[in-house]
This record gives sequence, structure tokens and C-alpha cells, in this order.
Amino acid sequence: MTENKKLRKAVFPVAGLGTRFLPATKAVPKEMLTVVDKPVIQYVVDEAAEAGIEHFVFVTGRGKGVIEDYFDIQYELEQTLKSRNKNAELTLLAGILPKAGTASFTRQQEPLGLGHAVWCARDIVGNEPFAVLLPDMIMSGGGGCLKGMVELYNQAGGNIIAVEECAPELAHRYGIVAPGDKIGEGFRITAMVEKPAKGTQPSNYFINGRYILQPEIFNLLETQERGAGNEIQLTDSMLKLLKQQDFTAYPFRGVTYDTGAKDGFILANVAYALEREDIRPTVEAQLKAMIAALK
Ligand code: G1P
Repeated sequence: MTENKKLRKAVFPVAGLGTRFLPATKAVPKEMLTVVDKPVIQYVVDEAAEAGIEHFVFVTGRGKGVIEDYFDIQYELEQTLKSRNKNAELTLLAGILPKAGTASFTRQQEPLGLGHAVWCARDIVGNEPFAVLLPDMIMSGGGGCLKGMVELYNQAGGNIIAVEECAPELAHRYGIVAPGDKIGEGFRITAMVEKPAKGTQPSNYFINGRYILQPEIFNLLETQERGAGNEIQLTDSMLKLLKQQDFTAYPFRGVTYDTGAKDGFILANVAYALEREDIRPTVEAQLKAMIAALK
């Protein structure tokens, strides 16, 4: 019986090519692009840590080695900072370092889709529930998306998927769920579809990139069947698992930025800059002046 077993591990699929951010992503993984002064991946890891995650599993790919370096000690840098008494910077670096043995890295050797990337983590996750966080989506407010999902998981058990509502004309871009009975803060999911053809979506609740899944999903991903975009889709295996286990939707009430898109990335930078006391005054004043000059 795996239901309500404690959630300890989270999987971060970070193998994507980031073609929308070329030429930058020719040499820098898209997950390392910065929102203000932190890489995108740090926001997502922080969200997981705040939800109680103890082990961080990164599914990387070629050219992503710098992500592994980022989550390690940078000995020379730290010695230099120490010799210059840069204590604030040293504290900052210590704060983002995962505890020894709590970060694992594996590679998705071919870009075969999200379902395949998650399947690549099966041996590291083992036979226990796990979270999946898509690093493109960074989430602000709402008490923390994964944290709210864990609370619902403790109540509802099974599998939890975070959702938000989108404009009907955008539903074809996402995984969409069909809503059933209300349960706590959320509702049971009765069906789901990955990237429905325009006008065929069962609702406007889209999957926003946060999941709590039971390990039985790995057996279903094992079949490696292709779906939308000729990729191995996570949504297709979740739909199969729905016949055996409960899926509950967690409606996230904060704000989500899709940093995998240029506009979302810029908006995230503006929003987080405006939350920072040190830079807000100049950023706010100059943004207002720029917008006024447009008219
Ligand atoms: C993936 C998922 C999709 C989800 C989306 C959220 O799609 O397959 O269900 O709605 O992330 O960003 P992708 O953005 O990789 O096409």
C-alpha cells in the first residue's frame, strides 16, 4: 500500500534544449538563465524544499553539466570570498547548497518527451511517491504550490496535479483535466488529455507543471508509447493510472510565470524585481517612465 506514504523526493526534468532562448542556450542551459539574480532552477528547488522535499533528482542531458556544478561547492570561489571577508556572499552560497547526498543527477540521453524524462528517474525514486516540478514554470504567492499540494495529498492520498484556469483558446497548448467531485480544496479528476485539438477540451483547467505521483506510473511509462507531438507524454500514462488510482486536482491560487517563453521570462524578472526592496525604487520609476513614453 503506497497511499499517503510520505513525500520525500522530487524530480526536475531539466534536459530540454531551450530552443526558444537561442542563442543564449547554445552555451547556457535555460534553467540557469536568471530571474533577477537567481537561476530559474533555484526558484523551483526552493519551492520543493519549502514543501518538505528531502531529495532532489535532476534529469539532465548533454550540455547541462553546469547545473550539477551549481549545486556543488565551488572551492576556489569560496576561498577567495573568505580571504576577502565576504561573509554575506558566503552565507548566500551556503544557503543554496543541498545537504551531502540529497541531490542526484541522471541523464535523459534522447529528447523523447516529458514522460520519458520522468521514467529516467525511476531507479533513483524507487517505490515511493514523488513530486515532479517543471522548471520552466515558476510560481509566486498562493502559499507555495507544492506545499499546498502536499496538504491536499495528506487528505486525499493518491496522485495530485496542480491546475489553473486558462482562456479557452489557449487550452490546446497544455494538458487539460476534466473535473469531478469536490474534495477539500480540490476536486477529483475524471479524465485528462494532452494538448487537445482546439475546441475539444473537457474544461479550461490546465496542468501547470506540478505533480505528486505514485510510483506505479513508472510501469505505465515503461511501454514508451508516443502521444501528442510524437513524444512520450506523462499525461497519457497518468490517464492510464487514473483507471487504478485516484487523481485529485489542486487549483493553485498564486501567480505562475512560464519562463520557457520570452514574455513570461521578462514578466517574471519584472515581478520579482518589484518584490525586491533594494531595486524596486529604480525599477518601478523607470518602468513607469518607459510606459508613459509609449503613449
Ligand atoms: C508540459 C505537459 C503539459 C503541461 C505543461 C505545463 O507540456 O506535458 O501537460 O500542461 O507542461 O507547462 P510542455 O510545456 O512540455 O509542452
